[in-house]
Amino acid sequence: MKDISNIMSNTLLFNSFAHIPIGWIWVCEASKIKKKKIHAFNLMGREIVVFRGENNELGALDAYCPHMGAHLVDGKVEGNSIRCFFHNWQFNQQGLCIDIPCLATMPAKKITTRSYFIKEQYGLIWLWTGETQPEFSIPCVPALQDQAIDYSLGNQWQKKCHPNVVMINAIDENHFQTVHKLPGHILNMKPITIDHTNIHFENQGRPTANHWAGRLLQKCYRGAITYNMSYWYGLVGTVTVGPDFLQMHLMFALRPEKGTTLGKTIAFTKQRRGLIGKLLNRCLLQLTKVVGWYFAVGDTKVFQKIQFAFNNPIKNDKAVIAFIKHLENQSRVQWLEPTMKSEFNYET
Ligand code: FES
Ligand SMILES: [Fe+2]
Repeated sequence: MKDISNIMSNTLLFNSFAHIPIGWIWVCEASKIKKKKIHAFNLMGREIVVFRGENNELGALDAYCPHMGAHLVDGKVEGNSIRCFFHNWQFNQQGLCIDIPCLATMPAKKITTRSYFIKEQYGLIWLWTGETQPEFSIPCVPALQDQAIDYSLGNQWQKKCHPNVVMINAIDENHFQTVHKLPGHILNMKPITIDHTNIHFENQGRPTANHWAGRLLQKCYRGAITYNMSYWYGLVGTVTVGPDFLQMHLMFALRPEKGTTLGKTIAFTKQRRGLIGKLLNRCLLQLTKVVGWYFAVGDTKVFQKIQFAFNNPIKNDKAVIAFIKHLENQSRVQWLEPTMKSEFNYET
């Protein structure tokens, strides 16, 4: 293996609250945004309003009105647009000003505010951090791609460290023995780069016969123990785990929030028909969330106090190193820069 001792010397994105990658970021549960209501969010240091028009579609705009900077959360939804409380300018879901009540005709020069691409999926609202059209879809569990799915949302949770540090926990092979008490060396995560935003890790480890738990596991797996992770831009991860006859799928949607991680867990399974299928899925989704909770809770005390520094990487940390290297290739946005330049440009 090449020299890995200086892995952190050129990192810009990893563990950085100052840089945001381009991708889909979870905002809130979709059911929270009711028709004709406006909600304000401070998303990674930027104020944004999200509203739902009469057409049931969502709009997301910079929170501060481009006229004099009033907060749009104090406005109201009219039809599918939002009207500022202060001087009643009206903006559509694309951020275009479509009405200025005190003017008989609209100014020749279009007035716009920053709008964001926003979508509902898996019961959550997702916002595209890029400034141009989304370049890829909201991530999905690779093992369930192109299948009809059922899902169940878990609770929101918070950890006192960066989302990347939470994410690498799932491929930190060594801690599964020390923290989660898994027997033997059953994890050997092989990195597979899918594209510049997505990297998979497939477990190549098999149950070992020299341990009673290993012998038990051998009955459940024909080959390697299924434990596959997939990551997108360091903020969304999926895991597929379980014996050959009962695979469980989880997604972790994370975002940085004032020096911490705000996370949401979603359990997935393929859709099953009929009453029995529905009941089975309900149980399976609950069980999946319990498994996710078991692994999350084991690390809690680490994430309450960690000051992440990767000063002495060793070859057993190879999966974490692959994650960091892949993450550094992401496109990023100037998220904390003001999005609107003030132009003193009025018509007389
Ligand atoms: S500040 Fe919004 S319309 Fe004037
Ligand atoms: Fe863990």
